[in-house]
Amino acid sequence: MYVCVVYYSKSGKTEKVAKYVAERISSLGFNVSTFFIRPSKDYFDRFLHLNPRVIYEILSGRTVEIVGDEGFDSATCGALVIATPVWYGTATPPILSFLSKYSGRCSSPAYVLTTSDLRVDYASKLKELAERKGFNVRGYLSVVSLESDLERVNDFVDRVAADLRSTSLGFSYPRYLRRLPIVTALRRSPRPQHCSRPPGGSQIVACRCYRP
Ligand SMILES: Cc1cc2nc3c(=O)[nH]c(=O)nc-3n(C[C@H](O)[C@H](O)[C@H](O)COP(=O)(O)O)c2cc1C
Repeated sequence: MYVCVVYYSKSGKTEKVAKYVAERISSLGFNVSTFFIRPSKDYFDRFLHLNPRVIYEILSGRTVEIVGDEGFDSATCGALVIATPVWYGTATPPILSFLSKYSGRCSSPAYVLTTSDLRVDYASKLKELAERKGFNVRGYLSVVSLESDLERVNDFVDRVAADLRSTSLGFSYPRYLRRLPIVTALRRSPRPQHCSRPPGGSQIVACRCYRP
């Protein structure tokens, strides 16, 4: 299965987590590509907390023009991991813009990650937001840093891999066929899902769904 790891990072923490997650998923036998999504015009580095553009974009919720998704094809992407820093309690404008841009075009299983300074469960909010945009979010994790949360990140990736393995029940369209409109339509059509949350308050929803 082809997994797309999509992230934005300003000072490098999210990038470190996203690249670690990508490498670990790849080491578990999946094809992985990473996409560094960023605004076409980047934010000024200094005093980011007080940057009027950041404050305006967050408060207004307006989308920004993004780059970095040139090779991203929602039709061939079998699963999606989305990682973002938290800015003022929410996902960053580039990632919110990515969600808006691909809203309704990506029904593959998605997993969301946030990095933040505070140990607050921001990722569950991102999960809800992504679901409102039509993403099929199956897991979420809030991270403070890769070092302090290494075990949780490893556990998360292992659960993502297990979830994806149980998702692809035997049949998978070859990659060259996935571009055909009929195959794309079939892959996007709703399939029955039998979802249950595993015991222990895990953040990955264990689903058996019949999507290749
Ligand atoms: C403008 C701005 C707003 C932020 N707001 C929050 C916040 O509401 N809660 C929090 O825990 N961290 C907040 N942070 C800290 C970042 O979420 C945190 O440092 C993040 O991991 C940085 O990721 P990066 O290194 O990939 O850019 C904020 C940082 C910036 C620059």
